[in-house]
Amino acid sequence: MKTLEVKTSSATYPVYIGDGIKRNIVDLMTSTGHSYTKLLIVTDTAVDAIYGDEMVRLLEQKWSVHKVVVPSGEQSKSFAEFEHIHTKAIQFQLDRSSCIIALGGGVIGDLAGFVAASYMRGIDFIQVPTTLLAHDSAVGGKTGINHPLGKNLIGAFHQPKAVIYDTSMLETLSQTEMRSGFAEVIKHALISSEDFLKELMSIRSLDECSKSELAHMLYQGIEVKASIVQKDEREQGVRAFLNLGHTLGHAIEAEYGYGVITHGDAIAIGMQFALYVSEKKLGLSLHRTELKEWMKKLGFPVQVTQDISTKTFVDRMIGDKKARGGTVQFVLLKQVGDAVLQSFTKDDLHQWLEEWKREEGCL
Ligand SMILES: NC(=O)c1ccc[n+]([C@@H]2O[C@H](COP(=O)([O-])OP(=O)(O)OC[C@H]3O[C@@H](n4cnc5c(N)ncnc54)[C@H](O)[C@@H]3O)[C@@H](O)[C@H]2O)c1
Repeated sequence: MKTLEVKTSSATYPVYIGDGIKRNIVDLMTSTGHSYTKLLIVTDTAVDAIYGDEMVRLLEQKWSVHKVVVPSGEQSKSFAEFEHIHTKAIQFQLDRSSCIIALGGGVIGDLAGFVAASYMRGIDFIQVPTTLLAHDSAVGGKTGINHPLGKNLIGAFHQPKAVIYDTSMLETLSQTEMRSGFAEVIKHALISSEDFLKELMSIRSLDECSKSELAHMLYQGIEVKASIVQKDEREQGVRAFLNLGHTLGHAIEAEYGYGVITHGDAIAIGMQFALYVSEKKLGLSLHRTELKEWMKKLGFPVQVTQDISTKTFVDRMIGDKKARGGTVQFVLLKQVGDAVLQSFTKDDLHQWLEEWKREEGCL
């Protein structure tokens, strides 16, 4: 097992990563030094079917445990499920010394974390990530739900008390979801180091990744995320670099439809666009075509569909919560490991997107 410590201005907590460590969850939770009256496991239907009973059995060795299960998928990051979990928490009489266990991927982490941030003005929660993508979402304390008018618009910063990442749970994850999470690992490499990127690019197929390779890659990804969050917990500066590929990515997710395209696939396309602009505007010297071909071989989409207009995407990007006064703070790379923020107006975005789409032959 490897342990990493995340230190932010508001909290310090451990991230435990290892194969089979869920069996030690009681000891790991106890070692954080927090004592709890009751636990509420929040999970989704797919994860519950595989790990729900086992997790209840493990945790019941020490605590009184309740469980609430929401439907799998992005649609559960909703006001309705948020209220439903609160209702269950009240019915189970959770108090200020209770703890929520977020057992699942990024959807569960965001939703359960936001419940923990708001129930009785905030109680503890522990992230037990079960997807590759959650190496990103489980660390850093961003929690929230979607509004019908936009993704992640309602939420809070609330750091978990611990992250317990049992990589053996990734064995039941579909290929599509593995790839989705891998997009965020690629992002972490692009914003941090050429060596990390080179290492990743030696992977020919996610299926063939050994357990130790996977654990190492996750560790490095979490290290990058943790070091950024440590410097800038509330996204006043460098944390925004984690949004590489997300400006167009979020617009793609919203336009294609949540569940139609995974978060990671949308981000993968968004990163191609950001790298194109970085090359043309800032002279980024990355073998962009090589990277694109490698990502294509891994199964990622690398361009937008022709049937959605540039204007539609641009309107979405300008409507993103990160837009300010009609401009978007767009993350570009000067070099691999050297990200910068640049303000783009609606017209800039339109022009760059048209140019990129033309180059890609998808205008
Ligand atoms: N808070 C943050 O900092 C942050 C960062 C990145 C992404 N996110 C959010 O994360 C969400 C995406 O997360 P995700 O990709 O993990 O999606 P997800 O939580 O929906 O999980 C993907 C699918 O895999 C299933 N699943 C999960 N674990 C499994 C397992 N071990 N075996 C089999 N099936 C399993 C789920 O039921 C679901 O159907 C988005 O809502 C995104 O906004 C948040």
